[in-house]
Amino acid sequence: MLVLGIESTCDETGAAVVKEGREILSNVLASSVDLHEKYGGVFPELACRRHIDVIIPVIDEALQKAGVTPQEIDLIAVAKGPGLIGALLIGMNAAKGLAIAWNKPFIGVNHVEAHLYASMMGMEKLPLPALGVVLSGGHTLLLKILEVGRYEPIGTTADDAVGEAFDKVASLLGLPYPGGPPIEAWAKKGNPHAYSFSAGKVKRSPFDFSFSGLKTSVLYAVKGKELSDAQKADVAASFQETALRDIAKKAALAAQATSCRAIFLGGGVCNNQRLRELFRETFFHTPLFWPPPQLSLDNAVMIAGLGMKKFLGESDPLDLEVQTRISFA
Ligand code: KG4
Ligand code: ZN
Repeated sequence: MLVLGIESTCDETGAAVVKEGREILSNVLASSVDLHEKYGGVFPELACRRHIDVIIPVIDEALQKAGVTPQEIDLIAVAKGPGLIGALLIGMNAAKGLAIAWNKPFIGVNHVEAHLYASMMGMEKLPLPALGVVLSGGHTLLLKILEVGRYEPIGTTADDAVGEAFDKVASLLGLPYPGGPPIEAWAKKGNPHAYSFSAGKVKRSPFDFSFSGLKTSVLYAVKGKELSDAQKADVAASFQETALRDIAKKAALAAQATSCRAIFLGGGVCNNQRLRELFRETFFHTPLFWPPPQLSLDNAVMIAGLGMKKFLGESDPLDLEVQTRISFA
């Protein structure tokens, strides 16, 4: 089965061809990050204009690189949200148009669920229940994964997402957008204990996150000051350590409270090596599943992968068993 995935939720236009839900035949991305750099965050209208310009060439390139023709595609999967409305509409309409023109089935999938699925793609059997940890520019989520498509929410953020906090702190330090990679690079040269920052607690919600107070502490640490490079590195290191330790700590609490057998992670922040170290230190008895580096950030491979899984149904129909009583509840 060949699936064409299409991703356009934010500032990346992506198309990918994935075979049998596991073999990546192509993975094409056109980023509009160059347009947003001077604003310190995504400028939605500029992102939309770029999507319009590049979506068809990106899809063409994905087919060409995969060496397949439109006739050979069995399914078109598109990210239906969450994301920027204009950006989503462009991917969705391109996918619908091609589905009609090529006479192919078509499915929409949840972009955030797809981030999580990126660390499961190609696995025959999942160790369930598991804890899902989504760390991206738009989300900070802890979920209990009962099966693909069935989740129980455990924790979320009361304000900024963790990636967003990295982006804002980078902007305060005069570092480019997206802020995660430069903060991580500067943090390597700094002392994580130089500043005593703390992450927020959310009343009566031990698994929820709050990063806005941490961001304000960084603001006060840098405001009106001409920081030396060493001080900038110390701020980056102290911020990163505080935010990531808070995530590892709350994930550990959540895994324990829900008796999870494994941890699946997803989202752009998963590329952070310090995060990986902290999780390895925290969960030495629990298997950790990370998305491959090229599937952490926004991409269309994860959309194709989850699209196929949803299209075929959550389980093999030959596993079907009889039920003498069936409740309508
Ligand atoms: O998952 P993603 O590509 O997009 C969303 O769905 O939001 O994540 C992008 C976010 C950005 O906020 C970016 O700064 C952050 O991931 N990020 C990182 C790193 N690489 C990307 N954050 C921390 N460390 C990194 N190495
Ligand atoms: Zn994303």
